[in-house]
Amino acid sequence: MMYIRHKLVEVNVALMTVLVLITVSIGGIVEIMPLFTIESTIEEVDGVRPYSPLELAGRNIYIREGCYNCHSQQIRPFRDEVERYGHYSLAAESKFDHPFQWGSKRTGPDLARVGGKYSNDWQVAHLIDPRAVVPESIMPGYPFLAERELKMDDVADHLRTLQLINSESYTDEQIEFALADLKAQADPDGDHEAVQARYPKAVVGDFDGNPDKLTEMDALVAYLQMLGTLVDFTQYKPEDLVQ
Ligand code: HEC
Repeated sequence: MMYIRHKLVEVNVALMTVLVLITVSIGGIVEIMPLFTIESTIEEVDGVRPYSPLELAGRNIYIREGCYNCHSQQIRPFRDEVERYGHYSLAAESKFDHPFQWGSKRTGPDLARVGGKYSNDWQVAHLIDPRAVVPESIMPGYPFLAERELKMDDVADHLRTLQLINSESYTDEQIEFALADLKAQADPDGDHEAVQARYPKAVVGDFDGNPDKLTEMDALVAYLQMLGTLVDFTQYKPEDLVQ
C-alpha cells in the first residue's frame, strides 16, 4: 500500500515538486524563524576590540601570503576541537574582521587562539623555516618577512576605511595616532602605555629579534600573538550574554 502511494509521487513530477517545496520550506522556516526573535546574533562580550595598527598590518601580510589557504580561524563547538584549541570561537571575536578569516581548509592547525601559545622567538624561527622547530612540517618558509621593511605610510587610511565600514570600530583618536601607535608597539622603548590604553592587551616590544628595524615579521608576529586572547573566558558565561 505504502509502495503504491510512493510510486504516485515518483512518477508525477509536478506533485513531487510541490511536496519537495513544502518539505524544504518547513526546514527553512524552522531554521530561520528563531533568528527574528533575537536582536543580534553577535554575543555581547567584554574585551573584543579592533586590531591595533601593527596587528592590522600583520593581518594584511597574513592575507597577502595566503596563510588562510592552510589555516582556519574558527574553533567549532565540538569536544575534540575545544580540547585541542580552547574555547570555541564566538561571533563577537571576529566582528572587526573585514574580511573574516574563518576559512574552511585545515592543512595546518586552526589559529584562532594561537596567541600566546608560543614565544615570539618560536614564531619567528618557525616562519623563517618551519622544519627548524617542527621537523615533520610541510608548511612553507617565509624568511623574506624578516628582511622586508614594513610599509606603513597608509595605515591611518586603512583605519579610516574600516571606520567607514563599521562606525563602532575605530575612533578619530585611534586614526590620528595610527602611525605613532604602529611604531611604538614594536619599539622596545616606545610609549607602550599609550598603545595599550587605546588597544588593551596589545602585546608590545620587539617581535623579530631585531629592534633596529621594523619588518613585516614584526607585524605578522604581533598579529599571531594576539589571536584569540581578547576575551577572558574565566568570566564568560554563554547563557548570560546571548541577547
Ligand atoms: C601549505 C600549507 C600552509 C601554509 C600556506 C601556511 N601554513 Fe602554517 N602550518 C601548516 C602546517 C601543516 C602546520 C603544522 C606543522 C607546523 O607546526 O609547522 C602549520 C603550523 C603553523 C603554526 C603553528 C600552529 C600551532 O598551533 O602549532 C602557525 C602559527 C602557522 N602555521 C602560521 C602560518 C602563517 C602565519 C602562514 C602564512 C605566512 C602559514 N602558517 C602558512 C601549513 C601551512
